[in-house]
Amino acid sequence: MPDAYILGIESSCDETAAAVVRSGEQLISNIVASQIATHQPYGGVVPELASREHLRAIVPVVRQALAEANQTYDSVDAIAVTQGPGLAGALLVGISYAKALAYALDKPLIAVNHLEGHIHAVLLEERQKGNHELRFPVLALVVSGGHTHLYLATQKSQGWTYENIGHTRDDAAGEAFDKVAKLLGLGYPGGPIIDRLAPHGDPAAVKFLPAQIKHRDRRDRRGEEKGGEETASARPRFDFSYSGIKTAVLRYVEVHGMHQSIAARREALAKVSKPKLEDYLAHCDKQTLDLVASFQRAIVEDLVGKTLTAARAYDVATLFVTGGVAANNELRKTFEHDGAQEGLPVYFPSRPLSTDNAAMIAAAAYPKFLAKDFAAMDFSAEANFPLR
Ligand code: KG4
Ligand code: ZN
Repeated sequence: MPDAYILGIESSCDETAAAVVRSGEQLISNIVASQIATHQPYGGVVPELASREHLRAIVPVVRQALAEANQTYDSVDAIAVTQGPGLAGALLVGISYAKALAYALDKPLIAVNHLEGHIHAVLLEERQKGNHELRFPVLALVVSGGHTHLYLATQKSQGWTYENIGHTRDDAAGEAFDKVAKLLGLGYPGGPIIDRLAPHGDPAAVKFLPAQIKHRDRRDRRGEEKGGEETASARPRFDFSYSGIKTAVLRYVEVHGMHQSIAARREALAKVSKPKLEDYLAHCDKQTLDLVASFQRAIVEDLVGKTLTAARAYDVATLFVTGGVAANNELRKTFEHDGAQEGLPVYFPSRPLSTDNAAMIAAAAYPKFLAKDFAAMDFSAEANFPLR
């Protein structure tokens, strides 16, 4: 197979990223410019600010990715960019820049689905470790700020196809982490903060009822409300739901009169420019830490339980867990432990490749490069881009 150096560009949410990957199996450079500081005061991503920050960062980020890879605009073989899903304005920055580069340099342009990118982050790193043997069927849980999706992934000649067998009916798991952290005055993004605080609380302290994380295994012939993916088959589905637990946390806060202490924490942490774990701990009482730990445990148990049930139902040989929430320590440990008990190998990307990056986009582009599956110059951003 021909070697190819692919420049990947990712701008779907709040990270401007560029990377060079060789032939889908060797990460040469990987630059991520985070916008956390811009969005932090608002407790979440502000789409207009995200687009503006991408505009500011895209040129230097791409230049740095090329320089660190000892590549030039001319030397790369193709340019790959995220087409969606994501924020339309943010996606357009990466797409416009990638189109301009491809046109000016006369290079092939490859449009990549962000969710496919998350799946290929795992494949890239496994190939890099020398693991070229993958047992099928593969089930991939993509769990991020916008998605909690289960896909059966199949390799067909040079390309990949995906069948969605479950997704969140409302909030994504990462979204629940972010909303609960915001609600508790812990700042943004919530996942990494809750991940570090949870070991300091008692995960059994607060009981969340199963009805608060609705398990709705069912056969579904209808289109989907969120995610835009339709299933025409009567195959079992494994959907998630995380808005109920967020409401349960809010109820707990109200019933236990925690609003005042939350406001004090929010104010105190706003004065610290880059709060460390000790700063968070200094402003969290036992009740808050217990709530955080119990919330994380409930989410982890639901994600792992449902995914392993799906793995059994589809008799899969390999499990991938990827996306921002896959960086979570308790989630990794639980998947590894429970997967091992069932004899199911579970693969995660390294933490830097779990969250948004462009290496995964460049890696996912390689099979398309081989298949000459190039994008026409008039393609546009797809905010809701189904993965098939
Ligand atoms: O994949 P990603 O970087 O962006 C999207 O495609 O959405 O995922 C971001 C999400 C955020 O909701 C963030 O809070 C969550 O991933 N996240 C985590 C952790 N690190 C990031 N959630 C739990 N534990 C973490 N360590
Ligand atoms: Zn993502």
